Amino acid sequence: MAERIRVLLVEVFPKVAQNITAMLNNIDSIELIPGNITNSENALQLIRQTKPDIVLLEMELPGVNGIQCTEIIKRDIPQTQVIILSEVSSAEAVRQAMRVGATDYINYNNLTSEELLSVIQHVSSNIQQEKIRQRLQQQTFEQETDDQKPHPEGKVISVYSPKGGAGVSTIVANLGVVIKESKPDARILLVDLDIQYGDLPILFNQFPNRSIIDLAIRIQNIDEELIESVVFTDETYGLDLLAPPQKPDLSNGIDPASISTIFSYLRKMYDVILVNVDSYLVESSLMCLSNSDLILLIAIQQVAAIRSLRSFITLISELGISKEKLAIVLNRYDETNSITAKKIGDMLSIGVSHIIPFDMKTAEKAANLGIPFTFDNKKMEISKSFTTLFSIIRNRLQAKEKIAAQIPS
Ligand SMILES: Nc1ncnc2c1ncn2[C@@H]1O[C@H](COP(=O)(O)OP(=O)(O)OP(=O)(O)O)[C@@H](O)[C@H]1O
Ligand SMILES: [Mg+2]
Repeated sequence: MAERIRVLLVEVFPKVAQNITAMLNNIDSIELIPGNITNSENALQLIRQTKPDIVLLEMELPGVNGIQCTEIIKRDIPQTQVIILSEVSSAEAVRQAMRVGATDYINYNNLTSEELLSVIQHVSSNIQQEKIRQRLQQQTFEQETDDQKPHPEGKVISVYSPKGGAGVSTIVANLGVVIKESKPDARILLVDLDIQYGDLPILFNQFPNRSIIDLAIRIQNIDEELIESVVFTDETYGLDLLAPPQKPDLSNGIDPASISTIFSYLRKMYDVILVNVDSYLVESSLMCLSNSDLILLIAIQQVAAIRSLRSFITLISELGISKEKLAIVLNRYDETNSITAKKIGDMLSIGVSHIIPFDMKTAEKAANLGIPFTFDNKKMEISKSFTTLFSIIRNRLQAKEKIAAQIPS
């Protein structure tokens, strides 16, 4: 569950205060900060002390008024969001409030709890996003400092699609086989981050009894030895697997900080880490995406899927994850479909890097047998397409390294 949003109500009119407090007490995601506020001075004092996520602020405060108060709050505690409460709502008053940095403006005459809830939800969602952005930024920074260490670290390539069933697991499994075959000495790990219904090992006909959860719950004692005891090696393909649990994990998932720790070890142990990211986004998957060197975004020829991809691209930009990391891969491609690769590129404002043809017979047979088609069906177009995909990935990573080498430290 997301952390609760801390709200302070600054309302000096007892009836209004009573009414809004009752409404706020009914919103589970809120923690109401107690306080006895009679004027702007003690309001500002309490705000400085408690640093709320949201301040609901009466416009007509005795002393410094709501507008001036907002200016002070935004100057001193910029992360606190201010929502102005007022008996009136003229366009000029709203403009004035927004100009000094208020996030929203509520007229409390005839205010319903639904309206209040909707404003709070909107502001809370922005606050949560900002908190996640800051945490991701922090991790990226730590990783950059780490990168300056002399030993070469492995590359993390994540595969993601906002819509389930686009072919993420198929791509991770078959790409893993192709990479290993062209680089037999490389140490390659496939990670299934789908801790509820991950099926990556099944695509290799494997059912490992250790999973990534075994690392997450021992994160305080994590080291290379522990990782080696949890990872499963598939001798047929020379690939290592970090499996999902055998039954859906019903705990709160993996803590994002643990993901970051796990990946910093994995980078030291492997040359390539291919990650199957679950379509349902949680902070730990964002942490993984943020730590990735390349993100293969899987598109399919469906308007709804493209729209979701577009929202995802907007979201990660807002979270500070560089769009430069993205490569769009169009899977299950059917040339008779009117949604062409060019149209998809235009809709996403990022061109499609690679196309994998639709071949249900080969894909499903491979999945059911648990033998990736790039292993035993190399002549099929779908398999050849993975060889091309690998060379695109290699070029992208090399180009990135060249750019990095040009940046003076
Ligand atoms: N290029 C392709 N042509 C035809 N069928 C494909 C292709 N790629 C994948 N498939 C099939 O599509 C289905 C979904 O693939 P897969 O399980 O890899 O998707 P996923 O994105 O991992 O799904 P989930 O979100 O459920 O984990 C499978 O039946 C798979 O065999
Ligand atoms: Mg899958």
